[in-house]
Amino acid sequence: MTSDKLGVCVIGAGRAGLIHAANFAKGIRKARLTAISEPNRETAKQACQELEVERHYRDYRQALEDHEVDAVVVVTPTDYHRDIVVAAADAGKHILCEKPMAMTVAECDEMIAAAEKNNVVLQIGFMRRFDQSFAYAKEQVRQGVIGDVVLVKSLTRGPSIPQRWQYDIAKSNGPLAEVNSHDIDTLRWFTESEFEQVYAIAGNYRCPEVRDEFPDFYDNVVMAATFANGMQGTIDGAVSVGYGYDARLEVVGTEGVLFVGRLDQSGVVTCNRSNGLNAPAVASWRSLFTEAYRHEDQGFVDAIMSGTPPAVSGHDGKMAVKVVNAGNRSIREEKPIRLNDD
Ligand SMILES: NC(=O)c1ccc[n+]([C@@H]2O[C@H](COP(=O)([O-])OP(=O)(O)OC[C@H]3O[C@@H](n4cnc5c(N)ncnc54)[C@H](O)[C@@H]3O)[C@@H](O)[C@H]2O)c1
Repeated sequence: MTSDKLGVCVIGAGRAGLIHAANFAKGIRKARLTAISEPNRETAKQACQELEVERHYRDYRQALEDHEVDAVVVVTPTDYHRDIVVAAADAGKHILCEKPMAMTVAECDEMIAAAEKNNVVLQIGFMRRFDQSFAYAKEQVRQGVIGDVVLVKSLTRGPSIPQRWQYDIAKSNGPLAEVNSHDIDTLRWFTESEFEQVYAIAGNYRCPEVRDEFPDFYDNVVMAATFANGMQGTIDGAVSVGYGYDARLEVVGTEGVLFVGRLDQSGVVTCNRSNGLNAPAVASWRSLFTEAYRHEDQGFVDAIMSGTPPAVSGHDGKMAVKVVNAGNRSIREEKPIRLNDD
């Protein structure tokens, strides 16, 4: 380190990249935003102005040569993650890689091996593990408040139309990866077990305009799962729902049930003669998980500074990718898939 603060470069200054960049530019202890790597000139210019950061690299390999960059946050489209993470590890930079970790389990193995070989931290961006409500729920389950866990149900539905690269299943692995990676990780976290078998169904209901160009694209998916320890799980995912950002978890136990998340933003409900009941919906993952992203970024820096393992490991990222690929295979082949055979 060339200063008492960890120098961080955010690679990819799109929607999620800007959240991490803003955190490191302002509120993360013992860290500072040193540079941005972004090939799109206009996006980069805007980000640099907004965040008052001077260094911009169009090619991430130049950022990896910068001695003031100690760590990188990889927030590019998913199919670039493997190459960037392996190169960053080989350059001795610590890495926070956004979910989904990569496209395949083999890519994840290469990323984990590169981090281990170079002795750098590799953390994966499952920020729900840093969210207060999810963490409280997990603690309640651990204390046995609802008895033994029987079923974990998790859903995520996003309001906006996908980025163009996300329509292409070959580039993004589809909504199971883009949207439901978080739910998959949540199920692993709450069951404390591994997926054993999945059965998924999916279709494109809301995006008819891309049916010809991207025939495999689906905007709605449901997945049922069994776990190695006998527990059950279900996930549903959607994009382009329009009505708001919907992320909810339900855990059913032998002695009770537990709910996390709700669709209304503030808990305030108004009612008048002309419109009846009215409660604004949560607008975006950006607002719902603002604090979770901040805690995630702080957790990454703390893990590096203290030499302790990150809260979300490369293994966690890899297991989610394995489930995504099994789910997509189940959709294609219209049958249940056992994870060990995948
Ligand atoms: N944790 C979360 O909840 C969350 C939310 C949104 C996105 N993500 C993840 O973050 C990643 C990016 O998603 P997004 O929605 O921000 O996408 P985006 O398309 O908005 O942004 C991606 C950016 O990366 C840039 N880029 C492309 N190739 C690059 C390269 N080689 N080097 C540097 N920059 C490059 C693009 O120009 C673009 O600005 C994806 O993996 C996505 O799944 C995570």
